[in-house]
Amino acid sequence: MKNLFRTMPVEEVLARGERGGLNRRLSGVDLIGFGIGIIIGTGVFTLTGIEAKNHAGPAVVVSFVIGGIVAALAAMCYAELASAVPTAGSAYTYAYATLGEVFAWMIGWDLLLEFVLGTAVVARGWSGYLANLLGLPGEWFGEHSTVNIGAMLIVAVLTAVAVAGIRESSRVTNALVVVKVTVCVLVIVAGLYYFKAANLHPFVPPAQPSESSASVTEQPLVQALLGMGQSVYGVGGILSAAAVVFFAYTGFEALANLGEETKRPKRDLPVGLLGSLILCTVLYIAVALVLIGMVDYRHIDEGAPLAAAFQSVGAPWIAALISLSAITGLTSVMMVELVTIGRIGFAMSRDGLLPAPLSKVHPRWGTPHRMTIAGAVIIMLFAGFVPLSALADMVSIGALSGFVIVALAVPVLRRRKPQLARPFRVPLSPWLPILTAVGCLYLMMNLNVMTWLRFGIWLAIGLAVYLLYGRRNARIANPPPAKTTGAPVGG
Ligand code: ALA
Repeated sequence: MKNLFRTMPVEEVLARGERGGLNRRLSGVDLIGFGIGIIIGTGVFTLTGIEAKNHAGPAVVVSFVIGGIVAALAAMCYAELASAVPTAGSAYTYAYATLGEVFAWMIGWDLLLEFVLGTAVVARGWSGYLANLLGLPGEWFGEHSTVNIGAMLIVAVLTAVAVAGIRESSRVTNALVVVKVTVCVLVIVAGLYYFKAANLHPFVPPAQPSESSASVTEQPLVQALLGMGQSVYGVGGILSAAAVVFFAYTGFEALANLGEETKRPKRDLPVGLLGSLILCTVLYIAVALVLIGMVDYRHIDEGAPLAAAFQSVGAPWIAALISLSAITGLTSVMMVELVTIGRIGFAMSRDGLLPAPLSKVHPRWGTPHRMTIAGAVIIMLFAGFVPLSALADMVSIGALSGFVIVALAVPVLRRRKPQLARPFRVPLSPWLPILTAVGCLYLMMNLNVMTWLRFGIWLAIGLAVYLLYGRRNARIANPPPAKTTGAPVGG
């Protein structure tokens, strides 16, 4: 029982990072590129419209502000831990150093789910956009394909880049980021031209009972638990929309996995985490404002809200640009996700919780190539054969549960290691970290019952794997002979 809560000394975490063998190549700007690369996907282009129409009305802007605040709080917690303990394992490693091994494993397992499933969902979306744009055959591309070759191919290509090197991955990501940020700015500027203040009234439509007769599994957990009738709009609508649009902010946490590849991690990780998030928050709030100013929220198109808005005002070329941005955006999201999966799995395998060969670093490319390829194969199987769009909420619950653990780890580490150098400090600890954990838990409670059930099953499987494998093979339980300590294991 005691073993479940054993922790890894911070000194050991830092030493493993030093000997890890990954290449330190990234600057602060590269990190911001990776951050924007993974944060801006399609969330902002689709969820804004759907949530304005169905839950929040024009006040969806407030939902974005709430989502942005919770994300910023979480990013500050990440920034403190990432700058004090730079590592490839992020939340997994922070939990190992503070809360104990079983928490570390569960959060690592959860993050692998988030990123593997996330990449597969995005790959299928990517293939669908491409098919629409180029008129490609439906049996190989898009959501209704028999075998989604398009999704599998893009994962294979990006995996090759991720394996080739962190510098190469960064260059590809930066190029894609330039395209999508340019389109976002263009959408905002053009949207302002078509803005009608009258569309903002009523800003918070009065709460009313929901017309949809959703089954209990489709209800937000908080409503199901409290036996509340489903309602839409009003303050409740703003909050439930905040939980959904939070998806658009997820991803910044991936940066915390690049601690062993950043030239000056103590300074640049906080810059990357907070810089990319602040930029995206400003863009998101502006995009949301423009959309609800262009179209009466009752008439928003649910399929492609922003593109349809521009089509309806006679600017179809902007709609086409939005498709292009979606394709580039999704490509960069997958790029960073694949890089991240490699690092999380590498850290877990280095600690013995996953099989040792997975943490072998490629001698020339300096990347955890085996773990990256193993993750990619699983993603390709999902992306090729399983319709997944219903699983997007799994990404949010996965990210949010990681944030809760990271928020709790901040005050725990402060108490345990008060003298550790912390280049970035969350203000008002422990209160802000506690507020972060509560905010994230609240957003989690607003996700539906089905998502919670799926999440529970995944965690139960994780616990079984840990008890049968990880607990016995953990390297803090079985330290390797001194001579080989620190060499990349396996191979
Ligand atoms: N944040 C990413 C998106 O909005 C996942 O698509």
